[in-house]
Amino acid sequence: MSDESRPSPAQPPFAPAATPVATPVAAVIPAAGRGVRLGPGAPKALRALNGTPMLIHAVRALAASRHVSLVIVVAPPDGSAEVKSLLDAHALPGGTPGGGRGSTDFVVVPGGESRQESVRLGLAALPPEYGVVLVHDAARPLVPVDTVDAVIEAVRDGAPAVVPALPLADTVKEVEPATEPGAPEPVVATPERARLRAVQTPQGFDRATLLRAHETVTDDVTDDAGMVEKLGLPVVTVPGHEEAFKVTRPLDLVLAEAVLARRRLNDGF
Ligand code: C5P
Repeated sequence: MSDESRPSPAQPPFAPAATPVATPVAAVIPAAGRGVRLGPGAPKALRALNGTPMLIHAVRALAASRHVSLVIVVAPPDGSAEVKSLLDAHALPGGTPGGGRGSTDFVVVPGGESRQESVRLGLAALPPEYGVVLVHDAARPLVPVDTVDAVIEAVRDGAPAVVPALPLADTVKEVEPATEPGAPEPVVATPERARLRAVQTPQGFDRATLLRAHETVTDDVTDDAGMVEKLGLPVVTVPGHEEAFKVTRPLDLVLAEAVLARRRLNDGF
């Protein structure tokens, strides 16, 4: 990028107030992954944390925001009925599955082979009135509501794409990946750690931007904001939270249950 085209630090790198302030917010929760790295068992999102499925924690975390009025859950391809009955069986803030009676409605759609496809299938169920869309991994069940609200606020302030992000504790090396698991890998580069961020979800988008990204970008990406970057549009970060970590490996389940136990002690959650 030339110096002329670099946004000045004093100005946000996006057109202000592109999205009307009161536009309703919907959340898409992809929950169709198998969770192979967690070991054998049910699809990851349906595994229990302190007796409650991870997906239910994630849905509650998003519905806890007073701005979120629709949650679209993308279920495992053969698991829509099971997910619907789980939503029916658990108390959820602001509404009831099937929708209409509270301030948050819930919809369940079957997912696809890749995360990208699952999100696309969720977006296909998005009614036209929702101008702001969050995409949140079911595998991040403990994201605090303040993080959700910070993402929404930044989108409502005019950013087309917003990601919660944290600085890294570890130094990161770029390697030439080995073909055999466990074989030594040549280090290619060491990016400057101070410029790196680990990104989380929910990622928040202006609706038109996210739909365009999913219609046009076909490259394999691991997050939705990456698709918006490929369109050449600006993506900004807001502070993430250590409790928004992704449950990926067995040790993460232990950590997640410890966080829930601490919350229960601290505020009777
Ligand atoms: O595999 P990974 O941990 O990156 O998955 C992130 C999220 O995407 C999880 O919540 C998972 O359930 C979801 N996913 C999905 N459909 C897939 C693969 C992953 O909804 N085919």
